[in-house]
Amino acid sequence: MGTIQIENVSFKYASMVNNLFDSLNLKIDESWKLGLIGRNGRGKTTLLKIIQGKLPYQGKITSNLKFYYYPQTIVDNKVPTRKIVEELSGLSEYDLWKMEIELEKLQVDVNVLQQQFQVLSPGEQTKVLLAILFLNNDGFQLLDEPTNHLDIEGRKVVSNYLKSKKGFIVISHDKSFLNPILDHVISINRNDVTVYKGNFDTWQKAMNQQTNLESSQKNQLKNDIRRLHETAVKRKSWAQKSDEQNPDSTGRKMMKKSQTIVKRVDSEITEKRSLLRNIEIEAPLKLNYVELFRPKILLEINNLELIHGVIETPPVSLKVKPNQVVALIGKNGIGKSTILRQILNVPQSFTQRGQIHLAKNLKISYLQQNNELFGSIRQLAVNKKIEPEMVYSNLRKLGFERYLFDQPVEKMSQGQRRKVALAMSLSEEANIYFWDEPLNYLDVITRQQIIEAIKKQHPTMLLIDHDQDLIESVATQKVILR
Ligand SMILES: Nc1ncnc2c1ncn2[C@@H]1O[C@H](COP(=O)(O)OP(=O)(O)OP(=O)(O)O)[C@@H](O)[C@H]1O
Ligand SMILES: [Mg+2]
Repeated sequence: MGTIQIENVSFKYASMVNNLFDSLNLKIDESWKLGLIGRNGRGKTTLLKIIQGKLPYQGKITSNLKFYYYPQTIVDNKVPTRKIVEELSGLSEYDLWKMEIELEKLQVDVNVLQQQFQVLSPGEQTKVLLAILFLNNDGFQLLDEPTNHLDIEGRKVVSNYLKSKKGFIVISHDKSFLNPILDHVISINRNDVTVYKGNFDTWQKAMNQQTNLESSQKNQLKNDIRRLHETAVKRKSWAQKSDEQNPDSTGRKMMKKSQTIVKRVDSEITEKRSLLRNIEIEAPLKLNYVELFRPKILLEINNLELIHGVIETPPVSLKVKPNQVVALIGKNGIGKSTILRQILNVPQSFTQRGQIHLAKNLKISYLQQNNELFGSIRQLAVNKKIEPEMVYSNLRKLGFERYLFDQPVEKMSQGQRRKVALAMSLSEEANIYFWDEPLNYLDVITRQQIIEAIKKQHPTMLLIDHDQDLIESVATQKVILR
């Protein structure tokens, strides 16, 4: 039986002060359906790269398995999809039927094989790449966030598909996607890496238990630490006094004794602090939202249709009033982002039918679906006339370590990059928010922070997202495109 044996593996990127992985030990069985879970930037993608031997590490990894990684690199996406299948899988034209079977399981029209890869919707592209990966039944699949950009239906289909496979590691932050699939979980925590037998729920229960335990310990420990501090301060002042009053040997002895006690107290404090190992509690987020009471309608759309060649968005009408969160819902490729861009006057070559009325002089915050950010956080903030300190403060709340502030954004993990874009949107003054899939790439805790913030502040927002939990929690109105 095949296994992956990871022994004493340590790794850090050159720019890091501390190790990302420190003497990691794991044993993975080839039959496991493994979920890899952890907050953004904890090293999930890095671990998959290490397993494939793509990064230099210390320690030992032994395995007789062949690894296949999603997402594969596509060199040219303007060629017919079938060419990409042939290139990536080595499948000959005669064997293309094997691909068709996988596509059918994923509910993708087999005609996509004849279309250019670049015109497929993001959901279709994901499914094609997954199907290519599972054409190989001689190996172990490593899937890095296949759920991003998939609509609700697509997530269900892919979840079912993976349920029928075995021997893989999948990274995702989506609980309803993961739950039916997994029989094991690797959790990358703040201070260690642990393996659980079970699914996402099993893992979450265990994590909650630990958090509750640590929270209750936290108060106790805080009191203990405070008391120890007081003792230490008292001891110090006694020692000083006795040294002044008895500059002879008794005074010095007492001074020495006190110093020893102070040292012991310090080490007790350190030990107690280290007991709060994996607790993950972040400060609540706040949007820099400026409420407007007039006009009564900030955005009104009547029978809007956008047309470009064969692409035609379904007619949509909606109104956004102050303090409303209107969710725009529809499956992959239906044109939600295109509608958002048209409202915001982003240049694109669509013919417009119907009307858009966006109130004048609004302060708008637009979070794009895919914004490729480059350079330093400070420069990005300055370019948008946002106080960098404010962005830093929001990023701290989103779980960023301080050392990351000086890293170029393009060097960050996917989720960290998304957090930079999100922190900018949270920091800039706005009367209305246009958020296009804000939760993509974000970890579970961050998702909860965002939901809490919207529920508390009731900002005016036009929202696109495929996360059911978010929509159900915050949308005051749903506009469904079909
Ligand atoms: N090429 C690189 N150079 C320097 N640091 C890097 C590089 N790639 C990643 N990092 C850092 O290493 C850490 C782990 O990154 P990784 O991409 O493995 O995280 P992740 O768990 O996959 O996060 P996410 O959920 O956001 O995808 C992060 O702090 C990231 O900023
Ligand atoms: Mg990642």
